Amino acid sequence: MDAGRVGLMVWILLGAVSVGWASNSEVLRPRVPIDQIEAARAVTNPFPVTPEMLQQGKALFEGKAFCRACHGADGKGLGMDLDYSTFKGPLPRNFTDKLWQQARTDGELFWILKNGSPGTDMAPFIPLVLTEEEAWQVLMYVRSFGGR
Ligand code: HEC
Repeated sequence: MDAGRVGLMVWILLGAVSVGWASNSEVLRPRVPIDQIEAARAVTNPFPVTPEMLQQGKALFEGKAFCRACHGADGKGLGMDLDYSTFKGPLPRNFTDKLWQQARTDGELFWILKNGSPGTDMAPFIPLVLTEEEAWQVLMYVRSFGGR
């Protein structure tokens, strides 16, 4: 292989790495506006995480709250049970992404369920679809995709 080809390969490799890094940092970028994030992070789950609460959360995720319609039964966002040919805008979050799970506090996720993620298909669910207690149950289930 001549130097030109090696150079080209290195260039392609670096490009692929930086695209991967950019898409990852886009996912990790906080969704709560900067002037509200401190207050949002101070909010904590007031309910105990029990098998019953997780079961309720799963039932809501797959039923009344239809989270499954976008995030998939497997929580992967691009789940195997979903058709994304019609999806516009940012893709639904992959809840099995451990870096994303670590990057968010429970309070930030609760803020999302109250306000949605502005400018995306992630809509607010509290209070129209979920009570606050139900929202915490769903979030316990969302956390369980991260292995917690
Ligand atoms: C209509 C499709 C749709 C439905 C239904 C939906 N989501 Fe989402 N969700 C999205 C999209 C798209 C994003 C990505 C938004 C972004 O990148 O900011 C998202 C992102 C999220 C996030 C991540 C926000 C962050 O801080 O990164 C959480 C948490 C979430 N959804 C929870 C839920 C829960 C819980 C439900 C059910 C109550 C639900 N979603 C229902 C489309 C949906």
